[in-house]
Amino acid sequence: MGKHNYSAENTFVTWSRQKNWNPLKVISADGCYFTDATGKKYLDMSSQLMCSNLGHGNKKIIEAIKKQAEILPYIAPSFDTDIREEVSMKLRTILPDNLTKYFYGNAGTEANEAAIKIARMYMSDKKKNKIISFYNSYHGSTLGSLQLTGDFRRRLVDSYENASEFLRVAPQFCYHCPFNLKYPECNLACAENLEYTIKNEGNVAAVILEPVTGTNGVVVPPKEFLPRVREITRENDVLLIADEVMTGFCRTGEWFAVNHYNVKPDILTSAKGLTGAYAPLSLTAVDKKIADFFDDNIFAHGHTYEAHPLMLSAASAAIDEYKERNILKHVKEMAPLFSLKLNALKEKHPSVGDVRSIGLFGAVELNKNRDKKIPFSTADDKIAGKPLIVNSVAKYAMEHGVYLNTWISHLIVAPPLIITREELEDGFRVIDEALNISDKEVEK
Ligand SMILES: Cc1ncc(COP(=O)(O)O)c(C=O)c1O
Repeated sequence: MGKHNYSAENTFVTWSRQKNWNPLKVISADGCYFTDATGKKYLDMSSQLMCSNLGHGNKKIIEAIKKQAEILPYIAPSFDTDIREEVSMKLRTILPDNLTKYFYGNAGTEANEAAIKIARMYMSDKKKNKIISFYNSYHGSTLGSLQLTGDFRRRLVDSYENASEFLRVAPQFCYHCPFNLKYPECNLACAENLEYTIKNEGNVAAVILEPVTGTNGVVVPPKEFLPRVREITRENDVLLIADEVMTGFCRTGEWFAVNHYNVKPDILTSAKGLTGAYAPLSLTAVDKKIADFFDDNIFAHGHTYEAHPLMLSAASAAIDEYKERNILKHVKEMAPLFSLKLNALKEKHPSVGDVRSIGLFGAVELNKNRDKKIPFSTADDKIAGKPLIVNSVAKYAMEHGVYLNTWISHLIVAPPLIITREELEDGFRVIDEALNISDKEVEK
């Protein structure tokens, strides 16, 4: 590395104070592992940012990108390409069948930005422009998508915008129910509150939600929640946007999380697993009625790199890999072991307040007082730069060769979907040891 670290000195690290950023240099990655500059290997138990669904170093995807680079790496988005047709055809076979037209962007943020613009354009004749989201959500980092975002990241830049068209409502989150109710006696008060808000606001164009909330805690909804939201949105002439940036592409044990609930959204967004993170590509897929609307109305959206052939080549090969390796079957087979391992952590460790999972998508929530469900840290602690217990747990895991993504007071466990039983057991062995650190901090 020498005297300077040019990355630390000259580039930003995201969502962090810049001072004292001392990044670990990674030089290679293969399968479920990555390797640092000293040669030390780490088991990736979070698929980096819950995106490397197919693991690292996948030869078929790499070859596909190389081949496309030689054929045609870029052409303006108004031209057709073979790869654009190929990916669109493949997506038609895996997306909910009402979603017939696609916009390809570069990131999840862009996919959601496109989704809300599309919703507002489609609803403009009815003068509906408001978008409702939930407080425990993350939908992206640009000003529009950040207004959708319910978590603290919005608050860091919030007041810059007069964004009265964006509203957030109390979320579905049974473990921390904002209405202090218990499922099922609650009668889905969260969904009814959403309907109340829609009716009283009047001009709501769309509701956006993560079918399974990701970063903010892998919150798996009760089975009636999403169907009820679908019913409410339909009855009130409001579009439903499913943000599947993190949950899409087999993560939850279905191609898309909405499939678990037999719900067909009007718009579905995705990114991350779409290419298995081999290239930055996102998807905004819309229902046929919305697609048809734009036949005679201007689609007022675009990017220089929309439908970028090089990125699409990664998606095409990734979709083949999901299918050929029968990743869905593997996730379904591994899910019971995964859930068992998470629950064993809860049984054993007094600092584990709750564990939640679906497919190979899980969270371990750390509490200093589990009877009162008090987390070790809050969003305000994170904003204030206070040390977080969850980071000490992850640090131990890193020292012992396991990478884990952390958030305020929980770990996100979401390994590559190709993980073997042995690798999963190795990963959980280290997580188990690491949780002794948080156990020591539990309130006596
Ligand atoms: C549910 C969800 N939506 C949107 C985003 C934003 O995606 P990106 O970081 O690719 O812009 C994320 C990123 O983590 C996400 O988890």
